[in-house]
Amino acid sequence: MRLSLRFIIPLFLALGAIAYAVVPLVDKLTLQWFERDLDIRATLIANTVQEPLRDVIRAGDRTRLLQFFTRITEDERVFAVGLCPPGGGEPIATPTLPSAIKCAELARYSGEAGHLLKSPDGPLLVSVRPVEVEGAPGGTLVLVHDMSFVARRSEETRKYLFYFFVGLGATVALITVAIAQLSWRGWVHGLRALLRGEGLVRSDKPEVPELRPIARDLRALISDIEAEHRSRDDEQLAWTPDTLRAILHGELRGQEVIVVSNREPYIHVREGEDIAIWRPASGLVTALEPIMRACSGTWIAHGGGSADRDVVDSHDRLGVPPEHPAYQLRRVWLSPEQEAGYYYGFANEGLWPLCHIAHVRPTFRTADWEQYVAVNHKFAAAVVDEATSHDPIVLVHDYHFALLPRMIQETLPAATIVSFWHIPWPNPEAFGICPWRDELLDGMLGATILGFHTQFHCNNFVDTVDRLLEARVDREMFTVSYRGKLTAVKRYPISIEWPPSAELVGKPVEECRRDVRLRHDLPADHAIGVGIDRLDYTKGIEERLRAVERLLETHPEWAGKFTFIQIAAPTRGRIEQYQEYEGRVRAMAARINDRFASARFPPIELKVEHHQPEDIYEYYRAADLCMVTSLHDGMNLVAKEFVSSRDDERGVLILSRFTGAARELPEALIVNPYDTDECAAALHLALSMPAREQRARIRLMRGLVQDFNVYRWAGRMLIDAAAMRRHGRLLERAAGPDRQRRPVLHSGAGRRR
Ligand code: G6P
Repeated sequence: MRLSLRFIIPLFLALGAIAYAVVPLVDKLTLQWFERDLDIRATLIANTVQEPLRDVIRAGDRTRLLQFFTRITEDERVFAVGLCPPGGGEPIATPTLPSAIKCAELARYSGEAGHLLKSPDGPLLVSVRPVEVEGAPGGTLVLVHDMSFVARRSEETRKYLFYFFVGLGATVALITVAIAQLSWRGWVHGLRALLRGEGLVRSDKPEVPELRPIARDLRALISDIEAEHRSRDDEQLAWTPDTLRAILHGELRGQEVIVVSNREPYIHVREGEDIAIWRPASGLVTALEPIMRACSGTWIAHGGGSADRDVVDSHDRLGVPPEHPAYQLRRVWLSPEQEAGYYYGFANEGLWPLCHIAHVRPTFRTADWEQYVAVNHKFAAAVVDEATSHDPIVLVHDYHFALLPRMIQETLPAATIVSFWHIPWPNPEAFGICPWRDELLDGMLGATILGFHTQFHCNNFVDTVDRLLEARVDREMFTVSYRGKLTAVKRYPISIEWPPSAELVGKPVEECRRDVRLRHDLPADHAIGVGIDRLDYTKGIEERLRAVERLLETHPEWAGKFTFIQIAAPTRGRIEQYQEYEGRVRAMAARINDRFASARFPPIELKVEHHQPEDIYEYYRAADLCMVTSLHDGMNLVAKEFVSSRDDERGVLILSRFTGAARELPEALIVNPYDTDECAAALHLALSMPAREQRARIRLMRGLVQDFNVYRWAGRMLIDAAAMRRHGRLLERAAGPDRQRRPVLHSGAGRRR
């Protein structure tokens, strides 16, 4: 509108100026045309009346002459007629002949086009023509034409000219505005398409092949600039809680952040009369907690502890960490049926094995799916409830909430939703067996950004969408356009807090070594290996114990001198596969210990119990080696925690090649957990590794964890979220006010199969 006015006003001013110059010119020309016209008319009249006039003059009948002239003046244009005798004197004329016309002064009226005379009756044109009678001058005929009609005509001409210019202006304005709108829309559409990563292609129009290279170059340029900008920022910044806060306040203008996960960061557990606070064994919680401490905001999670309800306020909230509250924890309560169907059933018997491909068949039940949908709705309602603005930043975590992004987007269309998938994403064939695969993908694509730990998982996700949905996938920009919404699929390798907090690494390494050995009745020089996991079949604990057994077979000198302490936090104990797994791990540990019973110290110490983070760090610092043998793992933060805990630059990390961490920590001893001999050899190598080599390897790994810490992980997501917000707003503005409120879309989540 503003653009149109900016164009139309100058257009009309210019046309007004043109009209101002043109109208007098047209007036002048018209007058000249009429004068000439009337003069020709005068000649015509004079010629026509020559003959009768001669007769009347010859007869000398003055009365007849006057009657003759009066008849001529019946013509509406002829104002007066007169005859001046030869040599001057009084004219014989109609009474209307102006007195200013004197017969003695006729010479002044004898121009080519008559003479214009201003009289009280209006403008008059005086033409004179000689009359001859029998070869001698018979006088001069004076014809006076009334010119007042010229003024009337001129008035009309001005009126028509005015209408003409207004019409012309309106037409030009209309055409120009229409063309401008069309080309503006074209540009905007192109720009929108580019920003959406679709290229200069319209879904309703055939693709324009000539524009493809331009679009590609443009997109590549934008992405290069963004990448350069980001990497420059990444490199220049020291990633700390302050950096993260600065991003929040700078890039996101202090926007509120809402985090959603199933597992809560603090669990209140009733122990007799007391209430204990547990920190769960969850990589997700380990990573997110420092972020929330830095950002404040609200963390929404399932209140699953036995005393959780006892400590919340009337809005189910409490400030955490308990010692120094820095953010709000909002607990969501689930009924036993909901927990059974959504958490144990669909999430952990269905999606968890589906994504991990760890030789446990996924189980999909319709009743579980229904609970999964219901619980996702419940959390979506909690997000809406907690949001204090219409456009919060919502960070949705993990496979428990695949449907949540779409649900939130439908209610809060201006929210920026980042969904992070903490576990692997399988290939399309593997994912395709899920009966609700389309609904899950639809739900996830409600997010603005979808994050995975590795590029491999991003590729798998994009392949899956490409194979299963009618979506536009851009593999250059790694975006998916689906149901009118653009989702960026990006790699954000998760990490841990750096530097580790003093409460975790405050106790000196020597004391940790001593205390752990004392606790397990082991001598001071006894070699110790640790494994820290949840008791989960994806963690490869059986494979690890088998490797310890193989080490003692191939290197019997370690029997009685080396003990592997496996801490296994009980997890998802109601699920049959987990119960069986625990049984198998316990039996294997017992069998190996039996087999090497003659050694002074048992080769395996299995501790199936929950440990607080401080206890776990004590084990990390006391160990000679740490072994991570996951069969498939999104990242695995145990590997990074071990590295970060060793400020003494000692200790060896043995790491499964099937973890995301193996891509970042190549200085670890990388193993295939299915290859028992390779793992046993790695154990021997680690136990015999000189201190210098240990230092060299762990230094490099510590450097990486320091640089790529969890603040950088979250910071990069927030920077990208801010960029997507800006792009989104740009598109909204370009789309115009009618499009700014996006219509509420139907939910794919609630659809039943
Ligand atoms: C994995 C998942 C997390 C989960 C954690 C512990 O790391 O990605 O979402 O919190 O396991 O599992 P649990 O079922 O005890 O929360």
